[in-house]
Amino acid sequence: MKNAVILQIHEEHRAIGAVVHGLQHFAKEALHHPPNVELLRTMLDYIEQFPQTLHHVKEETYIFSALLGRGVEAEPIIERLHAQHEDDLSLTATLKAQLTDLANGVEGAADRFLASVDRFADLQWRHMTEEERLLLPLAERHLDEADWRRIDEAFGENGDPRFRGDNKSTFDGMFSLIVATAPQPIGLG
Ligand SMILES: [Fe+2]
Repeated sequence: MKNAVILQIHEEHRAIGAVVHGLQHFAKEALHHPPNVELLRTMLDYIEQFPQTLHHVKEETYIFSALLGRGVEAEPIIERLHAQHEDDLSLTATLKAQLTDLANGVEGAADRFLASVDRFADLQWRHMTEEERLLLPLAERHLDEADWRRIDEAFGENGDPRFRGDNKSTFDGMFSLIVATAPQPIGLG
């Protein structure tokens, strides 16, 4: 059975994946119908801030760094994943600017937004797959019990203050709002 830390990372990937999937759906719809700009903005905020504030911090500060210096061939993979985290940031900035164009009815904005969302989605699937298939199994093989205990504690309520209640509940709240607002088949709205 996978340990609690790995399960938590997988769970966060599923949440990011669900929002990215929803974005693709609504970006496609926006080619033919006026979009719900507020909903799309909340989705973009989520995929920008959740990884930046919580998810990537957990991976980079605790898992990637624990693997470095263990004599494991993890360095090139970690470098690549880190670069992908950086790319995410520039692409989400582009998506936000393109959403503003879409909201303002700029000619061709829906096509450009959809193309960027598809590109972002493609990068996300590849990135999360690489983390789950390459990096996390390496971590499972090479980190010892003391490492996992330390990471598990850092991710818990009394651990790293960046991961505590307030921060986490902000993103849980955003995720619930997305699910409640988005129409079927993505959400319950
Ligand atoms: Fe990740």
